[in-house]
Amino acid sequence: MALYAIGDLHLSFSAGKSMDMFGREWKNHERRIEKNWRKKIREQDTVVITGDHSWGKKLQDCEEDFAFIESLPGRKILLRGNHDMFWDAKKTQKLNDLYQGRLYFLQNNYFVYEDYALVGTKGYCYEGKDTMEHYEKIMAREMGRLKESFEAAVSDGYKKFLMFLHYPPTSIGERRSGFTMMAEYYGAEQVIYSHCHGRDRWQDSFIGKVNGIEYRLVSSDYLRFNPERILK
Ligand SMILES: [Fe+2]
Ligand SMILES: [Fe+2]
Repeated sequence: MALYAIGDLHLSFSAGKSMDMFGREWKNHERRIEKNWRKKIREQDTVVITGDHSWGKKLQDCEEDFAFIESLPGRKILLRGNHDMFWDAKKTQKLNDLYQGRLYFLQNNYFVYEDYALVGTKGYCYEGKDTMEHYEKIMAREMGRLKESFEAAVSDGYKKFLMFLHYPPTSIGERRSGFTMMAEYYGAEQVIYSHCHGRDRWQDSFIGKVNGIEYRLVSSDYLRFNPERILK
């Protein structure tokens, strides 16, 4: 039994959007993911997929992409990415009911892996596009959602945490953020995120140990489309 993560699969079996513009490595990337996944992941393993699953805008446009994810071995826990338009954060329970026993959606809840609580939310960072007002609004909302996820686990007695974000935990140049402070406050052992894809985005945030927490970037292209083992 092992725990893995990978993010930004950006599947498009129905939506017909190619990822080739992001570089040669994205050519047939879904086949590379499938090949690596099947080689590595066993049915008893868990894989957290850290958002940007599908280019489909509505749930029905994502069905083929979800069928692909479902067909792969292991328990799959999905986090919400900025492109996951099918997922209304307030209706996560509906998704969990709909895909019960097949896919698990992490939002305002938590999942268990051994004695760890897996907590998470989409997160946010400043990318030079939005107003300060909008940035602060989304930050506050995402911080609230993350806190709810942590608190649900704490009230059930969990003391060990792995924290998942879609966005990097800090904006470019920042040394701390609300998310890193929350990870420190609850004593998360690792913070795992993606969103940064394309070689010149890989260095946007922390990789490695900062203030005792292991930060990992698991964007699919950064991992060469090979899920990364999170717990040894
Ligand atoms: Fe992405
Ligand atoms: Fe993203």
